[in-house]
Amino acid sequence: MPSYPIDMNVKPDVKAFFDPMTNTISYVVKDPQSASCAIIDSVMDIDYAAGRISYTHADEMIAYVEKSKLDLEWIIETHVHADHLSAAPYIKEKLGGKLGIGSKIKVVQDTFGKIFNEGTEFQRDGSQFDALFEDGDTYQVGTMTCVAIYTPGHTPACMVHVMGNAAFTGDTLFMPDGGSARADFPGGDAGTLYDSIQKVLALPDDMRLFMCHDYGPNGRDIRWETTVGDEKKFNIHVGQGKTRDDFIAFRTERDAQLDMPRLIIPSLQVNMRAGDVPKDPFGRKMLKVPVDSL
Ligand SMILES: [Fe+2]
Repeated sequence: MPSYPIDMNVKPDVKAFFDPMTNTISYVVKDPQSASCAIIDSVMDIDYAAGRISYTHADEMIAYVEKSKLDLEWIIETHVHADHLSAAPYIKEKLGGKLGIGSKIKVVQDTFGKIFNEGTEFQRDGSQFDALFEDGDTYQVGTMTCVAIYTPGHTPACMVHVMGNAAFTGDTLFMPDGGSARADFPGGDAGTLYDSIQKVLALPDDMRLFMCHDYGPNGRDIRWETTVGDEKKFNIHVGQGKTRDDFIAFRTERDAQLDMPRLIIPSLQVNMRAGDVPKDPFGRKMLKVPVDSL
């Protein structure tokens, strides 16, 4: 297992924003030594039935950054989300910052470029993003060195981002009582997800973990923060020494019963374009619905 440059003495301020429409948690992460910050997994609002987009959730984050007089350096996507739309371009226009995602976005763009029958104008080289991270790549948020850890399985482009003593898991892990995310999207794989989760569980026990989603299992309140130690002890899918084979069997059976996320069709088309809504030949914003292909 590779060793990553991790400094548990760096303790960023983490402000969470919960979106009840998609059960997504977005974060503003502030360098403890400066006003620099990063935004992780932002959300653009969509009324899919009406085909209407709005920015209430993103505006809340932007207002927080402005009120706190923070300097946004990075906008991070942990992966190409299938259940909500990214607000990255909107936030970048208002606050600046560079947009980064895992380098395997190219695989996702290739897969869904075909499913959505995109033309040659849709670039499948990740060039819509400012940075494409490989496993172990580092970047700075002020004085804080952040590291991207490659964690495929849920999707081929997933990465966990570690900033000081805080790690942003994307959908590689859920809260201990939520377990793990599905691994049945195109390019997903349950065994690969198990291996990626082991990389996260190899981080220090007191590493704070911040989830991208929580659904409040068994009626509990929504929560998004745990630790590596608690995931190892209590995670219902991978904790307490569950084997890779156990996990694959369980995950495969469970995934076969899950419906597609409500917003998968608009989410993929927008998120594989780094948050830009596709346009028709006349320049009008337009989404497609591929029939019987997902
Ligand atoms: Fe996801």
